[in-house]
Amino acid sequence: MDYSIWSDFVNPALILIKISAGYNDFMDKIRNFCIIAHIDHGKSTLADRMLELTGTVEKRKMKAQLLDQMDLERERGITIKLQPVRMEYEYRDGEAGGRQRAGLSETKLGSARERRKGGELPSEIYEFNLIDTPGHVDFSYEVSRSLAACEGALLVVDAAQGIEAQTLANLHLAVQQGLTIIPVINKIDLPNADTEKVKKEILSILNINEDEIILASAKTGEGVTEILKAVIERMPAPVSPLAEQAKSAKSDRSSSDDERSRKPFRSLIFDSQYSSYQGAIAYVRVVDGEVKAGDKVNFLATKKGSEVLEVGVFKPVRTKVDKLSAGEIGYVVTGLKSLEDVRVGDTLAKGQVKPLAGYKKVTPFIYAGVYSTVGEDATKLREALEKLSLNDSSLEFQPEKSSILGTGFRVGFLGLLHMDIVEQRLEREFDLDLVMTTPNVQHKVILNNNEEKFVDSPEDLPDPSAYKELQEPWVSLEIILPTRYIGAVMELLQNRRGIYKTTDYLDKERAVLKYEAPLRGVVIDFYDHFKSVTSGYGSMSYAPIGFHSGDLVRLDILIADKKIGTLSQIVHKSEAYREGREITARLRSLIPRQLFEVKIQAAVGAKVLASEKISAMRKDVTAKLYGGDRTRKDKLLKKQKEGKKRMKSIGGVSVPTEIFVKLMQR
Ligand code: GTP
Repeated sequence: MDYSIWSDFVNPALILIKISAGYNDFMDKIRNFCIIAHIDHGKSTLADRMLELTGTVEKRKMKAQLLDQMDLERERGITIKLQPVRMEYEYRDGEAGGRQRAGLSETKLGSARERRKGGELPSEIYEFNLIDTPGHVDFSYEVSRSLAACEGALLVVDAAQGIEAQTLANLHLAVQQGLTIIPVINKIDLPNADTEKVKKEILSILNINEDEIILASAKTGEGVTEILKAVIERMPAPVSPLAEQAKSAKSDRSSSDDERSRKPFRSLIFDSQYSSYQGAIAYVRVVDGEVKAGDKVNFLATKKGSEVLEVGVFKPVRTKVDKLSAGEIGYVVTGLKSLEDVRVGDTLAKGQVKPLAGYKKVTPFIYAGVYSTVGEDATKLREALEKLSLNDSSLEFQPEKSSILGTGFRVGFLGLLHMDIVEQRLEREFDLDLVMTTPNVQHKVILNNNEEKFVDSPEDLPDPSAYKELQEPWVSLEIILPTRYIGAVMELLQNRRGIYKTTDYLDKERAVLKYEAPLRGVVIDFYDHFKSVTSGYGSMSYAPIGFHSGDLVRLDILIADKKIGTLSQIVHKSEAYREGREITARLRSLIPRQLFEVKIQAAVGAKVLASEKISAMRKDVTAKLYGGDRTRKDKLLKKQKEGKKRMKSIGGVSVPTEIFVKLMQR
C-alpha cells in the first residue's frame, strides 16, 4: 500500500506517532470481509455496485456479476469459486466517497491540497478486501475458507425471500469464527419486498438492534454507500498476532518499517491457481510480517521452499504490488512449477515459524466413477483431475476399473451440483469427453474380524457373509420453509427414514425444521422432490453426524442378464423394492430400442425384485421419415452418429452413457 499520501497533508509529528505506534496502525485501514447469502439473493450484484462505488472498475468496463469469472458461473448465474477483490475507499468524518482508479494519485494530491487550504483534517483511504463466495450448499467449503481469511461478513438477505437454510448454516459458522456480522436486506426495490418481515427474521436469529440492519438495493445502488460505511465503522481491522505478542511483551516499543520487514512472515493459503505463464500462485491472507519478490519462503505442511517471483493484489485482475503486509489479502507467485505443493490451508512463511491453524479437510458427501469415453484418455483424465483437485481442494479421487467403462476414477464430491460442475469443468477446461456413473455415498463395513472398511463404490461391498455390520452416513438437516409446507416435508422425510427433532419459528409464517436422516436419502434424488413439495419456497442445509448401522442391502441391476456393477446401489431393505422398480422403469425409458428384446432387472442377491422389457425395433432410423426433406434425414443420421460416440455396449445392448447420471435425476 502506498502511504505516501499522508506526507502531503499530515503534520510530520503525526506521521511519527503513526510509525512509532507500530504497523498495526496501518492495518487499522484494512477491512477484510465476505458476503454470506443464499443463491440469487444478490451477492454478486452487490459486489458489482461496490466495485463501481469504489472506482475499482470503471463504469464502462463493468459487466454484471463481474466477479463470476468462470464461463460456467456466468452461464448459470451462480458463483462456484470464491473470488477475492481489493478496493480502495475514501472516508472522512463519517462521509464516504469512492476513488477513481485512473486518477488515484491526482485525487490524493488534489483533495489533500484542498483540505489543507481549508484547514480540514485529512481524509483516510481504506483498503477493502472482499471475498465473493458461492451460496449453494455444495460449495460451503469455499465459504468456510473465505470466512477464515476475514474479520467480518455481510449477511445479505433477499427482501422478498427472507433467510434461507444455507445462509443460516453459514451464519452459524461465521459467528463461531468470531466474525462481525452486518445484516443487509437487499432488493428493497422489488414490488413484493417485505422488509418488515425479513427484519423480524433477522432479529430472531441475530442479537442486534433493529437499526443495525441496512436496507439496500444492489440493483439501484440504494444503501450501498451505507454498507461501505458500516464496514469501516463496525468491522474490526485485522491484527497481527506476532506483533501483538511482541507489543505485550514490551520488547517492541518502536516498530519502524525496517523492523516490520524483519518480523516473521506468516500467511494462510486460502486458494491457489495455476497459470501457464507464472506457474503455481498462492492466494494468501497475510497474518504477520510481509512478503515481496525475491524473498525465500517455505510451505510449512509440504515442507517445500521457493523464491517469490511476484506478489500482488486482486483488482479484481491480478495486479502486481511491491509487497504484501500483515492483514492484507493478495497473491504470491511461488516459483513452483506444480500446484501440488501449494496446498490450500497450508501456511506460507519465511523461516521456521509456528504454522497457522489450517482448514479441516472436507470429506466428500457423494462418490461417483468418472470415465473417459475414449479409453486411452485415462492418463489425460488423471492429469486433469490432478490439476482440478489442486484448484478445487474438496475434490478427492482414486483409480477404479470397470468391466464396461474401462479405467477411470472414483471421485468424491460435495453434492450433485458439485459433481455436475466438476464434469463440466473437466470437459471444457481439459477437453475431455466423460461418462459419470450413478453417485453413491460412502459406507462403513464392520468385517467379521472387527476390522473397519470404507466402501466408496457398491461394487466393492464384500459378500454379506464376510461382514457383520453395514453402516451408512447420516446428517443433521436444517430446513427453512413456509409453515404451510411443514406437513408435506415431514411426510417426504419420513419416507426417507428421517427422524424428527424440532420445529422453531422465525415468525408466524416461516419455520426452521430439524431432522436427522441418512445422507443418501437427502442428497441423492431428494432435492427435486423437496423443491416440488415446498413449491420452491423451502431451503435446506446439512452437516454430517457420523455412521449409523442399518438394514442395508445391495441392489444390483441387470441388463440383458448381465450385472452392471456401475449401476449397483446400497439401499435400505425397506426401500429396495421401490428403488428397484423406479430404476428399471427409468432405464426402460432411457435405453433406446434395440434390434432384439432387452430385459432389465433389479435384484438383491438372487432375488429379482423388478423387471422391465424393451421390445425390439426396426433398423432404419429414417424409415419413419418418408419422403420430405433430405436435410432432415441427414440431421437425424448425424444425430445418431454423434449419439453412437457416447454409447457403450452392455451385453450387446447399446446404452447411452448419460444414463448413469440421468438415472439419478428423477
Ligand atoms: P450466486 O452467485 O448464485 O450465489 O447468486 P448471487 O447471490 O450472487 O445473486 P446475483 O447477484 O447473481 O443476483 C441474482 C439475481 O437477482 C440477478 O438477476 C440480479 O440482477 C438480481 N438482483 C440482485 N440484486 C437485486 C436488487 O437489489 N433488486 C432487484 N430487483 N434485483 C436484484
